[in-house]
Amino acid sequence: MADLPKDFVWGVSTSAYQIEGAAFADGRGPSIWDTRCRTAGGVVNGHTGDVACDHYHRYAEDVALMRGLGVDAYRFSVAWPRVLPRGRGAVNQAGLDFYDRLIDSVLEAGIAPWLCVYHWDLPQALQDLGGWANRDSAGWYADYATLLARRYGDRVQRWITFNEFSVFTLFGYAIPWAAPGITDRAQHLRAIHHVNLAHGAGVDVIRTLVPGASIGAVHNRQRVLPEGGRPENAEAAALLDEHWNLSFCDPQLLGHYPPRVARAIEPYVKAGDMARICRPMDWFGLNHYGPIFARANPDTTWGYGWGDAPPDSPTYGVGWAVFPDAFRDELLEITRRYRMPIVITENGCGGSDSPDESGAIDDQHRINYLRLYNASMHEAIRGGADVRGYFVWSLLDNFEWGSGYGNRFGIVHVDFESQKRTPKASARWYADLIKRARSAA
Ligand code: FCB
Repeated sequence: MADLPKDFVWGVSTSAYQIEGAAFADGRGPSIWDTRCRTAGGVVNGHTGDVACDHYHRYAEDVALMRGLGVDAYRFSVAWPRVLPRGRGAVNQAGLDFYDRLIDSVLEAGIAPWLCVYHWDLPQALQDLGGWANRDSAGWYADYATLLARRYGDRVQRWITFNEFSVFTLFGYAIPWAAPGITDRAQHLRAIHHVNLAHGAGVDVIRTLVPGASIGAVHNRQRVLPEGGRPENAEAAALLDEHWNLSFCDPQLLGHYPPRVARAIEPYVKAGDMARICRPMDWFGLNHYGPIFARANPDTTWGYGWGDAPPDSPTYGVGWAVFPDAFRDELLEITRRYRMPIVITENGCGGSDSPDESGAIDDQHRINYLRLYNASMHEAIRGGADVRGYFVWSLLDNFEWGSGYGNRFGIVHVDFESQKRTPKASARWYADLIKRARSAA
């Protein structure tokens, strides 16, 4: 613990669509995920985010849980269609009021709110106009960010433009695992570029409207390996690496696209765009779970698909590979490539935890995972990575996108029938870790 910088931030993360529910309450408009949930095959078991954790109504209880954990910070997202039901134009006051209440109660609990402007729930009305494949989307986003900065900038200092750019663009526009479920190279490339433009515009708006704001973007980065280490999967891995790890960090922080993407995206790039995208940032938000594997597959949009981890590699609940060394290496690679402070904005472990007879949830698998990954974070810090904070994904079991409610990532268990919250063993472990870190500081 002695290697942690002073003021290291311990937090928990959530996102709007995954926890809020109240999908039709108080004037909220539909998002692309409401549509996805109603599309055959869109989500396992036809699950939807209609109710989720009902956080919209139970936020006070959830803030009390966070107070109990002793976290310094809470990372949440605003649902764009709750505050702008049609994505632009008429504002929904009831939606804006909800985030006022949430932010105020987080602050009253002595916790810093970290506001993420976009975590995947685009208003459906904007998708009907082409979504991120429409260049106007950068302007829609800038107007939405302006609304949030004006409304909450007096109380929120920490701002995040986007969560995991590459996941929602790749799975939304090329590999159809997420909303809007399109498979089209040109639309994918345009979405990449327009989301980058939106990010740049958002940074400028927040900087102008929120004096002293500390602004980051949240990137998922996972080492991409060719499945089976086979040479025929090497090009697949190189292209997936560009789409997954580089197409947002590089233009935003270095001012250029990686080589394969740069060649393909050229028709959509206008003079001055790269300068609009590459804006000064305060920190790098990293979401990391484990490495991923690529396999050549000519039947897909880009000629690659998801590969399997080596059969002997350790996995946890959801089948994701556990490789804490890859986490350390990623932190060191970000440090080498972008030379900036890092905040780990998501790290955690999914599974199908259920209560035992006494009602307790003894999720030792999650504690083991968190312990190993924390040890790797310390190694990276000792190796020179400037890590300023760590957020567990997630506070609550929630709607895990295409895999619905079966895949639980919470350190607090949620019974989705009764909405009862029960801290798991990992919640107690995390609270204790935070206490120990504070006393060592
Ligand atoms: C990340 C997402 C988050 C959650 C976790 C498990 O990719 O940002 O919403 O689904 O994975």
